[in-house]
Amino acid sequence: MKLTSRSVSLAAMVSTVLASALGATLIVTGTASAATTLGAAAAQTGRYFGAAIAAGKLGDSTYTGIVNREFNMITAENEMKWDATERGRNQFDYTGGDRILNQALNNGKRVRGHALLWHQQQPGWAQGLSGSDLRSAAINHVTQVATHYKGKIYAWDVVNEAFADGNGGGRRDSNLQRTGNDWIEAAFRAARAADPNAKLCYNDYNTDGVNAKSTGIYNMVRDFKSRGVPIDCVGFQSHLTNGPPGDYQTNLQRFAALGVDVQITELDIAGSSQANGYATVTKACLAVSRCTGITVWGVRDSDSWRTGENPLLFDSNGNKKAAYTSVLNALNAGGTTVPGGDPGTTTTTTTTTTTTTTPPDPGSGDCTASVSLNAWNGGFVATVKVTAGSSGLNGWKVTTSLPSGTTVTGSWSTSGSGTTGTVVWSNVDYNRAVGAGQSTEFGFQGTGGSDGLSPTCAAA
Ligand code: G3I
Repeated sequence: MKLTSRSVSLAAMVSTVLASALGATLIVTGTASAATTLGAAAAQTGRYFGAAIAAGKLGDSTYTGIVNREFNMITAENEMKWDATERGRNQFDYTGGDRILNQALNNGKRVRGHALLWHQQQPGWAQGLSGSDLRSAAINHVTQVATHYKGKIYAWDVVNEAFADGNGGGRRDSNLQRTGNDWIEAAFRAARAADPNAKLCYNDYNTDGVNAKSTGIYNMVRDFKSRGVPIDCVGFQSHLTNGPPGDYQTNLQRFAALGVDVQITELDIAGSSQANGYATVTKACLAVSRCTGITVWGVRDSDSWRTGENPLLFDSNGNKKAAYTSVLNALNAGGTTVPGGDPGTTTTTTTTTTTTTTPPDPGSGDCTASVSLNAWNGGFVATVKVTAGSSGLNGWKVTTSLPSGTTVTGSWSTSGSGTTGTVVWSNVDYNRAVGAGQSTEFGFQGTGGSDGLSPTCAAA
């Protein structure tokens, strides 16, 4: 059936509404007339595609032409950072940040704010502070900047790069960290109070797979969610060479399962497999319904902070590279839609899903398991909730029965015994302990049917 752009838009909207009503994941596949820009292609699934830009380059017409044409989310590469916005204590200057903001808003684009607190790019006066004086200066900075931009920012990187590399998932030492471990939550609370409508993100690098650093952040986010500390999203910078690790999507999905959005915030990829790497990252985001968008860290290779590595989508003359085409094709191939996202108008075929929830099994008394399914013709995503009995758990196993012809293609927050038939799902380190009456979630996705998974839980 040939659909006009108007009827396509309507079909997409109706499907989205239906999917929202069912709490289901909507899979968008294929397009009648593929979108021709990154932003429009991403919008088909309710996502954005953005770039970090520099105020000093806005006079370059090649640069600004690409920015205006291709991207629908903008990040200031440096202009909203502490050293740029508060050069003297309580002396705020939003000249550069406002130029970026206005460039974006005047051209119908949204803005990611970057970054309220970071151990780098602090003004000299702040670097010389410590203790309660630094804490109050930092919180004042968050409050003032978030208030200035109130109502105009889609998401703020409230705290950037606070976890250490090679420290078993612990925090990075910094003047901010030395004000007390609660500095991150204090910053998030201040940002929420100043701009209640901005999504509040934690942003970091070297978090692209399941590793000690990403797990440290995962545990912080889980703790924040359990205590009501306002956090809405986690940014994965994704400064990569050749491509992401094999468990990139799994890692995104385990964060999403905590109830936060995930965003690729500073993507650039060096190396000979660049085009494939970009496609892999794009597909991973598209497969995770709470991955709301991708931002590349610069426009042309000559704009990149990674001098000489040519890690971006446009060459130094502003020409589209193979990496650009691989991203555009991946976006046009479709994926899950973002719940409450902003679908574009050129989507064609949609497959709505049904969501079913299996009640908890009676279990052995140690724990129970229930499964929530987002299933469509030919595939599914299963989210399994493990709830501890009155004794709590220090290790658990959930057994599922996959129908014949079904194959598991990925999983998160668990380790599976196989991919077909009867599969035993075991805890991983970070979700081994579950307190009495408390729950944890893991998930898997697969091709084929998902009837009768019948999860049963036992302590291990
Ligand atoms: O604007 C001044 C210029 O006036 C001066 O002549 C020149 C001399 O050094 O410096 C210029 O400022 C530089 C600025 O970029 C703008 O080009 C700074 O020295 C330089 O330190 C700064 O680098 C930025 C870097 O963050 C700072 O750590 C990069 O542009 C920016 O891409 C990079 O972005 C970070 C993210 O914020 C966080 N994640 C990692 C990412 C890459 O490092």
